[in-house]
Amino acid sequence: MSNPTLLILPGDGIGPEVMAEVRKIITWYGANRDLAFDVSEDLVGGAAYDAHGTPLHDDTMAKAQEADAVLLGAVGGPKYDSLDFSVKPERGLLRLRKEMDLYANLRPAQCFDALADFSSLKKNVVAGLDIMIIRELTSGVYFGEPRGIFKEGNERVGINTQRYTESEIERVARSGFEMARKRGNKLCSMEKANVMESGVLWREVVQRIGDTEYPDVELSHMYADAGAMQLTRWPKQFDVIVTDNLFGDLLSDLAAMLTGSLGMLPSASLGAPMANGRPKALYEPVHGSAPDIAGQGKANPIACILSFAMALRYSFDQGDEATRLEKAVEKVLADGYRTADLLGEEGRSPVSTAEMGDAVVKALDASLG
Ligand code: IPM
Ligand code: MG
Repeated sequence: MSNPTLLILPGDGIGPEVMAEVRKIITWYGANRDLAFDVSEDLVGGAAYDAHGTPLHDDTMAKAQEADAVLLGAVGGPKYDSLDFSVKPERGLLRLRKEMDLYANLRPAQCFDALADFSSLKKNVVAGLDIMIIRELTSGVYFGEPRGIFKEGNERVGINTQRYTESEIERVARSGFEMARKRGNKLCSMEKANVMESGVLWREVVQRIGDTEYPDVELSHMYADAGAMQLTRWPKQFDVIVTDNLFGDLLSDLAAMLTGSLGMLPSASLGAPMANGRPKALYEPVHGSAPDIAGQGKANPIACILSFAMALRYSFDQGDEATRLEKAVEKVLADGYRTADLLGEEGRSPVSTAEMGDAVVKALDASLG
């Protein structure tokens, strides 16, 4: 059988630097665990715009549809701020999500013991935190029509539309319930049913799916603003959270920061199964392109490395190998390796992006005993 295929899209800013470290990990798995991938690389975001005048070339889109999994670094940067909206780097990422129909975005927020002091919240609030946010990713106000800036009398009006169909809510709700069953069996759904009709429908549909298909899962509902408050007050009350595209964007940044650093958190965006049974899938760090530190070897590659661990788990059925990689990351942190974003006030000198990647590879070596 041929090797599974991986399409790597490093993108902009720190994307290429952190992806170079993931490449080391991929190579390690090929050499040591009999897990070889056919890797190809292409452009996305500003890098694609520079080369082709579009943030995602049709050929790249086609390759992404074919790949067993896509790994993406980050897109965007100040250089592209003045571009027309339709060709901004972010549009490349949004096109991938939409055309691959990656409706379930898994964003874990896990606090590593070694970093619990680093959170802006008290240690006892975050130590041991392990929650999973499932964000709907292909609909809602990100994609609803009508949208645009229109003329209305003698002024302009900016319009976006929040829109959810029942089937869109049903499928992401099922992703939430399934995830809850694999974890602590608790699902909290967040919307604004008090002010938005789309939220009323969201709540109804999630409740119905729970009653009829997942009566064993403990389901609760929260208004998303209260959810934000509860996430900062006592985040450990949550296990799995399912929410819409925009609320999920906000709440996942909030949850990420609870853990101490945005540089640590991976994500998986999953769609329906392909002919080979694997879900359509794109893996990317939650952090952005961090143009202020790009090209300086300062970036933390851990979020991108852990995104590859999610690929091992969700695309390639290699849960044990994913755990091996996650443990290796835990070990380098416990051993005191810190990129600049993780230094706080400890007064140590940081390791570079490449040194962090090398340390993870060494920890993988050590895991073989
Ligand atoms: C994210 C990002 C994206 C989003 C941007 C880069 C389009 O913030 O993945 O959370 O808003 O979805
Ligand atoms: Mg975001």
